[in-house]
Amino acid sequence: MDKTFRIAPSILSANFAKLGQEIQDVIASGADIVHFDVMDNHYVPNLTIGPLVCEAIRPVTDAIIDVHLMVKPVDRIIPDFAKAGANIITFHPEASDHIDRSLSLVRESGCKSGLVFNPATSLDYLDYVMDKVDMVLLMSVNPGFGGQKFIPETLNKLRMARKKIDEYTEKTGREIWLEVDGGVNADNIAEIAKAGADTFVAGSAIFKAANADDPNGYDTILKSLRSSLSKV
Ligand code: DX5
Ligand code: ZN
Repeated sequence: MDKTFRIAPSILSANFAKLGQEIQDVIASGADIVHFDVMDNHYVPNLTIGPLVCEAIRPVTDAIIDVHLMVKPVDRIIPDFAKAGANIITFHPEASDHIDRSLSLVRESGCKSGLVFNPATSLDYLDYVMDKVDMVLLMSVNPGFGGQKFIPETLNKLRMARKKIDEYTEKTGREIWLEVDGGVNADNIAEIAKAGADTFVAGSAIFKAANADDPNGYDTILKSLRSSLSKV
């Protein structure tokens, strides 16, 4: 059962002075995906990393790089991330004037595409573009910062998203991943999985874990996340 769940450490909470090593360590400890948070101090009130950093980390891992764009507009920067080695590119519907066009652009650039829903953003945005979406990402905090508290209403929204995706998969046979991002930890991950998520972003829970500085320090937290998931 464990196999259907993917853990995506958000490198936003990693030590940027040794980012390559951090990524290798966390993947060696059993994480599946590198979650890459891009913020522009415009769409969200914080400024982080861009295509240059994506390009720099691409050679250090074979893991999927999941680029979460919290920038506005999105179209100009999408091909840059694709060229820099991104595998998945997701963006917020509010950040694109032409959502269908931006989703197509992600696919044409050679990446899997996804839409990200803020806590108060309706899932209705999915209705006419399901065919162009490979991942649905539900924010369980307001985007901009790591280390915030999980918003419990996300559980209801996850159940709604799960239903939409399952109905779509039933009809088409095509799989869509359902990712959750913000405040995920070993105490709530099982409940989040039960509500329908299959892919879990965790930043501070992993990179700020108590023994994260020890050699193999990420083993303990990754095991504990997996063990919570194994009970689902
Ligand atoms: C928030 C980012 C998240 C964040 C998650 O805007 O999209 O990926 O880094 O961090 P935690 O797990 O600490 O909430
Ligand atoms: Zn994110």
